[in-house]
Amino acid sequence: MDENGFIPFRIKTVEPIRKTDRKERAEIIKNARYNLFNIASGDVMIDLLTDSGTGAMSSAQWAEIMLGDEAYAGAESFRKFKKAVSDVLGFEYVIPSHQGRAAENIVSRALLKPGMIVPGNYHFDTTMAHIEDKGGRGQFFVIEEGLSPEKLHPFKGNVDISRLDSFLSDKKNLEKVPFFILTVTCNSTGGQPVSMANIEALSTLLKGYRIPLFMDIARFAENAFFIKIREEGYADMTVGEIVRKMMSYADAVICSAKKDPLGNMGGFIATDNKDYYEMFSVFCILHEGYLTYGGLSGRDLGALSQGLYESIEFEHLAYRTSVVRHLGEGLNALGVPVVMPIGGHAVFVDGLKYMDHIGKEFFPAQTLGIALFIEGGIRGVEVGSLLAGRDPDTGENVYPAMDNLRLAVPRRVYTKEHMDYVISAFKGLNSTKKEYKGVKIKREAPVLRHFTVELDLV
Ligand code: F0G
Repeated sequence: MDENGFIPFRIKTVEPIRKTDRKERAEIIKNARYNLFNIASGDVMIDLLTDSGTGAMSSAQWAEIMLGDEAYAGAESFRKFKKAVSDVLGFEYVIPSHQGRAAENIVSRALLKPGMIVPGNYHFDTTMAHIEDKGGRGQFFVIEEGLSPEKLHPFKGNVDISRLDSFLSDKKNLEKVPFFILTVTCNSTGGQPVSMANIEALSTLLKGYRIPLFMDIARFAENAFFIKIREEGYADMTVGEIVRKMMSYADAVICSAKKDPLGNMGGFIATDNKDYYEMFSVFCILHEGYLTYGGLSGRDLGALSQGLYESIEFEHLAYRTSVVRHLGEGLNALGVPVVMPIGGHAVFVDGLKYMDHIGKEFFPAQTLGIALFIEGGIRGVEVGSLLAGRDPDTGENVYPAMDNLRLAVPRRVYTKEHMDYVISAFKGLNSTKKEYKGVKIKREAPVLRHFTVELDLV
């Protein structure tokens, strides 16, 4: 593992970071209408908004960029990509898309009708938005521990099998369910993994009800890494072998290739089911482009092929997760409440607890995000009620069980020393956080409001 502190890369290119001061940052966030998405990246010192598309490519990936075959049909880059998906994940058919949500759009257009219910452990927000966009509804079956920041469990992304069973045993529910989506790792509940035993039990249950198991595999390699180090019986298997075993239970997978596959852009659907392939192909051509590029340049597909192989390297995953854990444990030591255990791609700070002087209707986690930017020029993202939006049936604000500030760590970009800087900013916040009293919404969009919302300080 990383006990000897081994960093499995050396740095070949650097990007300078501009240092800002507190006064300047207070002005920047005000001009951004207190929405962290509105801040120019040059004004951010440490950007933990997302681990999506923000990773550093390897020299081998850059080489693939130069080798990109930009033919409209039958490009060599697509052949490489198809081979990498088959080698790493084991699927025969692959449909590329420009990013993960485009793959979600294809799948939901092909299979969803109004009134359907798509159960999952916990859908990511774009997944939920695509389900609702097609007139469907999502329902969550993550285990109870998954919704509690403090409760310890090695696989907090697991599905509550008996709760799902009792839901499906009601015929009125069952007939509305076209498929189940298992998100690995489970982003919205803290980047928490799902165990192999749970995947097996889920697969058995769903087979009994003849419901297909789909997986959202944006962070499949991190999930497999946690299975290797936490689940009995997997220590001697390689991450690659564990990945193949996980995938063997899926009827189809949807992937944002901007996460674990180490791409700056891209997504895909993969399956062994020819009928699905044909159904999804129609919508790929309609929305994304021809089947051998799906909205991506040949060079992107080449870089992704290489990224897929690198994504399952043990040393890469050991270092990556150790950087995230370093941040989480450092914050924990300062008394900052974080979702435990620390997840794969991000540290989730418990906004309800850390900012307990702010009522939930004033968005404590978003307020913490603003305070952290002013304190240290660090950008996180709210994963809480601002993101959850409004109930599509009642129009009321949804207040999920957790209101977190997510600090997502880009892959191969920041070292533990960068994380030490973030920890030191929280040291400052421990004494200044009470100065922030919350935020109110000034303007919001009807879907995925958090991206464009305008706020005022209370
Ligand atoms: N599924 C999961 C689990 C995700 O985390 C994301 C994106 C998507 C699907 C959609 O993929 O962005 O390529 O369209 N998550 C990013 C994040 C945005 O910051 O967690 P996309």
